[in-house]
Amino acid sequence: MNIEIKNINLAAFSPEIEEILSGLERTRCEFWNLDRESANFLNFLVKLNHSKNVLEIGTSNGYSGLWILDALSETNGKLTTIEFWEKRQSVARKNFTFCFPNVKVEPKIGSAVVVLEDLKAEIDKNKREKFDFVFIDANKKEYTSYFKFIDKMLIKGGVIVADNILSHYEKVEDYVNLLFDNKSYQSQIINIGTGMMLSRKKIN
Ligand SMILES: C[S@@+](CC[C@H](N)C(=O)[O-])C[C@H]1O[C@@H](n2cnc3c(N)ncnc32)[C@H](O)[C@@H]1O
Repeated sequence: MNIEIKNINLAAFSPEIEEILSGLERTRCEFWNLDRESANFLNFLVKLNHSKNVLEIGTSNGYSGLWILDALSETNGKLTTIEFWEKRQSVARKNFTFCFPNVKVEPKIGSAVVVLEDLKAEIDKNKREKFDFVFIDANKKEYTSYFKFIDKMLIKGGVIVADNILSHYEKVEDYVNLLFDNKSYQSQIINIGTGMMLSRKKIN
């Protein structure tokens, strides 16, 4: 007997937001966006963790950011998102404002490591709250450098999702080993899209 099992039920959007998402999906190879299933998974994780203070490294034109914002519209949270390509982030900003005008977004333009250093300095001076969810999707060779800052900026119980783990394993291998060897984190690689590594900072 051939049984067909439905295994996914995607987040639903208004026709206006759906049109923007579908448009971005038509150019996703050019802007290196997540595929829809991975973006839905990210959205699901933000909701499951009830995250309110999300950091994204690698905004591009805002495709993954839109899925994060949908989740944050439920948790009443805020997205801080980093991109060094100004033109891309201005497209992202337009998409964010059009689709989720009531969700807080703080776009940061600059090289990720430099911006992360600034964010950490603000947290150290109590000018900013720690993050409870971080999505890494920028320069694969820099994932370990990002983690050194993220580790100091993430609350206990906070989650890190890193993309391109299986598609670019040779570039992110150091990151994978660093997280698996770190006793303060529980981590697992999920075979979705290009491969995501999920890491949760332990409470105790
Ligand atoms: C894979 S794309 C992000 C896709 C996006 N998360 C999505 O799914 O819609 C990576 C983005 O990170 C940016 N990027 C790469 N290295 C960076 C760095 N060192 N600092 C800041 N942005 C960087 C690139 O310009 C690119 O737009």
